Amino acid sequence: MNFEPTRLEILLTRLAFFFCGKSVYQTFADRLPLEGKERVLDFGSGMGTVAYYVAKRLPDGHLTCLDISKRWLSVCRKTLCKFVNINYLKWESEELSKETFNIVYCHFVLHDISERDLERVVPALAGCLKPGGALVFREPLNEKEKIKVIKSLLEKNKLFPVDSRITDIPIMGNALESIYIKR
Ligand SMILES: C[S@@+](CC[C@H](N)C(=O)[O-])C[C@H]1O[C@@H](n2cnc3c(N)ncnc32)[C@H](O)[C@@H]1O
Repeated sequence: MNFEPTRLEILLTRLAFFFCGKSVYQTFADRLPLEGKERVLDFGSGMGTVAYYVAKRLPDGHLTCLDISKRWLSVCRKTLCKFVNINYLKWESEELSKETFNIVYCHFVLHDISERDLERVVPALAGCLKPGGALVFREPLNEKEKIKVIKSLLEKNKLFPVDSRITDIPIMGNALESIYIKR
């Protein structure tokens, strides 16, 4: 399967980031439970739309941007070039180490992954979280069936919901935002 974006997709995402960065991506970044010194994983970082705002909130922490696409990762490096506390991982060419992160977040990523692949992805995300750490996602609300699968896999992997809300996001419509904690 080809996960690489076209030039048009990259251009459209850059425009969305330029015109709606604050109202779409910063609103999510600002709600992450961060104090500034955490180790954070952006799973499916794309061009770094959310990471750009999260990196600013981590003066003494570290952010890992992970994506399945080499081309998105290369655009992401450009978006985040002014930050030093970031590393970049290509999913599947590198393993996620156990109990490494305080926060893992997924912004409009999980609904795009097949049920079969989610059965590998969710345990990997749960495994790389430290005990007491949080997994936060924002996914389109109209993906009801996929959201059911995601919730069930999270709970099977010992992640428990502590907060949930529905938000109306400019351009993207209604989305579900949830926080799960690893006990
Ligand atoms: C809709 S984009 C969202 C990007 C970014 N989170 C944002 O909100 O702008 C989905 C991203 O997830 C990545 N992705 C899809 N499947 C993935 C997987 N199995 N592992 C890692 N990244 C994946 C895609 O390459 C793409 O960059």
